[in-house]
Parts: sequence; C-alpha cells; structure tokens
Amino acid sequence: MQKFSTITPEYLEVAKKSFENVHNKSELDALKAKYLGPKSTISQDLRQLIDIEKNQRANLGKQLNTVKKNLDEFYKKSQSSLMDATQLPSLDMSLPGKSLDKGFGHIHPTSQILAQTYQIFTELGFAIVDSDEIETDWYNFEALNMPPEHPARDMQDTFYIDNGKMNLLPRSHTSGMQVRFMEENTPPFKIIVPGRVFRNEDEDATHAWIFNQVEGLVVGEGVSMSDLKGTLLRVVRGLLGEDVEIRFRASYFPYTEPSVELDAFYQGNWLELGGAGMVHPQVLRNGGIDPDKYSGFAFGWGAERFAVVKYGIGDLRELWRPRFVFLEQF
Ligand code: PHE
Repeated sequence: MQKFSTITPEYLEVAKKSFENVHNKSELDALKAKYLGPKSTISQDLRQLIDIEKNQRANLGKQLNTVKKNLDEFYKKSQSSLMDATQLPSLDMSLPGKSLDKGFGHIHPTSQILAQTYQIFTELGFAIVDSDEIETDWYNFEALNMPPEHPARDMQDTFYIDNGKMNLLPRSHTSGMQVRFMEENTPPFKIIVPGRVFRNEDEDATHAWIFNQVEGLVVGEGVSMSDLKGTLLRVVRGLLGEDVEIRFRASYFPYTEPSVELDAFYQGNWLELGGAGMVHPQVLRNGGIDPDKYSGFAFGWGAERFAVVKYGIGDLRELWRPRFVFLEQF
C-alpha cells in the first residue's frame, strides 16, 4: 500500500505551528506555496492517487482531502490574524509614557505635607491611627456633645446617608475617632488620625467639600493646655519653619473646654490653621475614661491648609484637580 507522508498527525501539527508563527505577508505567501501550492506535498499526494489500487483509492482520497481542508484553514486563520495585527496603529510598548518625558513623576503637595506631618509626630512619640470614612451619627456628633438639635452641627454642614436603618454619614471631621479610640485603649496615649473628611460646603478658594484632616488626641494624667501649646508649636515650626510663631484665639467646640483656634504668624500674616482644646470631661466619659483621673487635649486641621500656606497656592481647590502643569510646580 502506498504511504502518503501528509496523512500523519505530525505533518498537520508542524504545518499548524508554522502558520501560527507567521510575522508578515511574505512569510505567509511562502508557507502557502509550501503547503498548498502546485508543488506542495499535498498536491503531489493527490496527484498520485491515480496510481492507487481502486479498492483503497476512495478511503485515501478522503483522508488526503481532510488534510488539505485543514491546511486551508490554517492558512486562512493566519491570514486574518495578520490583517488584524497590521490594522493596529503602530505602538511601541517599550517607549516611556508621556509624563515620563520630563522625569519620574511627582509627589502631590498634600502628600508631601502629610509625609512631613507623620515624620514630625512620629518623632514626638505619636502613633498614627487609621480610621473609616463612613461614620455613625453617634461618634461623629452625639458622643462629642452634639445631640441632633445642637446648633454646633451647623459648623460642619454635612452629607447624610439615607439607608433607613442607621444614621450613617461621610464623616465631617476626624474627631469621631476620639471616642472610638478611647473605648479601645487605656491612657496614656498620643495619637494622630489622618483622613479624608466631607462637608456640604459652598466651595471657594479656601473651602473644598473634601479635605484631608489630621486629628490629634493626647490623654494621660496631668495633661495640660501648655502641653497642647508646646506640641502644636513644635509641629507648626517643623512644617512651616523654625521662625514661625503661633497664637491661640478663644473659640468654641462642644467637645473641648476650653476651645481655641490655632493661628500661625507666617510671612507677615496671621493665618488660621485649625481648632484645638482640652478634651471635654463628658467626651472622656463617653469613651469610658475617668475625667477625675485623666485629662487630654485634641486638635484638628486640614493638611491642604498647610500646603496652601507653605507653597503659596492661591486656590485650595487646585489640590483636588488633576492639573499636572499646576501641581508639578511644588
Ligand atoms: N473637629 C474640628 C473641626 O473639624 C477641629 C477640632 C478637633 C477642634 C479637635 C477641637 C478639637 O473643625
């Protein structure tokens, strides 16, 4: 019996691989000639069918035609994937990205301020505490002496989440972590709680509806207002420069008593940086801490405020816009 070399699985396997590895039109044409042209093995085999004994011819002919059909399919597949590839715009994936033309990226001004803030507080022995952006009404307001009807809530006009079950909100400040942390920890402790906060704010150059707040909380025996002032002086000087002065202005927060606004004298002007005060005894009690034994101070400010002051940025909202041209200056 005549043996045809094309009627083997290996033959088709090799042909298939060759068609799959085609890179361009001329390679494809060459393969087409090799496997399907008049001089190809399959064409020769088919021509030789005539010499085959009649009783075997039909069966072998059928097999040879199946091989030919397969080769045709390999060719067509290879041709169409080559067309798909050539229709792509030429794209060199090894080229550097556009923004890399100028260098290797840039740390956002707010992130720079936050990194410096963490550094300074860590040196002072503070722990950095993580927290959630969605808070309950209890921790955000009520545990801080702001029951539902309290007018001080208006100082932080906020968004609410209407889920019908719990009173949840995107936190309006990081102070919600005060009572949460007290519940889980025994004094003495010194923490900062950085995080994004959200307010239903009419935006302008000095107010954005979202900002990065840095909360501070220190509780221990005999903690006093002078500890608060000394700590804030160290941190503000670390951030803005050793020649900066700070001052306290009397203020009001329901969760601190006394309460103050913190200002810094920077480049000839008094600038408001944030709020602070001695933790209200009821807030300590809400966190399970005995106010007769312990006292504490707390403060909170926006990292963006420091970025604006330090880098001389005219509009705080720029810090939330993806404008590289602007942000890369700092
Ligand atoms: N939570 C206040 C605010 O967002 C800041 C503050 C924090 C004031 C801690 C006093 C004590 O404005």
